[in-house]
Amino acid sequence: MSDRTGIFAGDDPFALARDWLAEAEAREVNDPNAIALATVDEGGMPNVRMVLLKEIEADAFVFYTNYSSAKAAELEQAGKAAFVAHWKSLRRQIRVRGTVEREEGPQADAYFASRSLKSRLGAWASHQSQPLASRASLMAEVARVTAKHGTNPPRPPFWGGFRLRPTEIEFWADGAFRLHDRFQWRKTAQGSWEVRRLSP
Ligand SMILES: Cc1cc2nc3c(=O)[nH]c(=O)nc-3n(C[C@H](O)[C@H](O)[C@H](O)COP(=O)(O)O)c2cc1C
Repeated sequence: MSDRTGIFAGDDPFALARDWLAEAEAREVNDPNAIALATVDEGGMPNVRMVLLKEIEADAFVFYTNYSSAKAAELEQAGKAAFVAHWKSLRRQIRVRGTVEREEGPQADAYFASRSLKSRLGAWASHQSQPLASRASLMAEVARVTAKHGTNPPRPPFWGGFRLRPTEIEFWADGAFRLHDRFQWRKTAQGSWEVRRLSP
């Protein structure tokens, strides 16, 4: 007998995550889809940075970045990552851990094409995570790629998505006197999900 009701109800953690994000989109001042993406480098040293969560699929979460960045090297070396979303307006968080793989097919092309022209050119111009001499040299690179690619730049080969397939998803909501509610979903060896309440 479960007491998982109200905002935690439902049999599909991805549908639940979509519902919570939709609520955050109506409430948060900026970037409701911002997530803190955690990786480890080859020495086991953790690293974390914000990225934007762009798609919640039937069994995965997708974000986009530069494949030459520090995060991409860490994602590809470990094949695993975690992220947390925290919505201050809702006083809720979602934590996710799992395996990662690239999304560099038509879906990445379509998302790239949906971005503004300046953002598409910016993706071409930025050698993300590499040392940069000055702001002026970045703007010179923007001018160079603008002259080269014009108004219809293709998706750069060094830019695309990562798909995180979770093995664990936790939904957390603030409770009075720090007696918060936590429900952790875990993928079983058979591929189904089991869910349990955790102590705050
Ligand atoms: C709210 C917010 C959203 C961001 N979204 C992205 C994103 O979707 N993709 C991305 O590559 N960087 C994004 N960034 C920049 C990253 O936090 C980071 O500076 C950059 O990706 C380089 O990280 P790395 O050196 O660990 O690879 C975002 C930053 C903030 C503050």
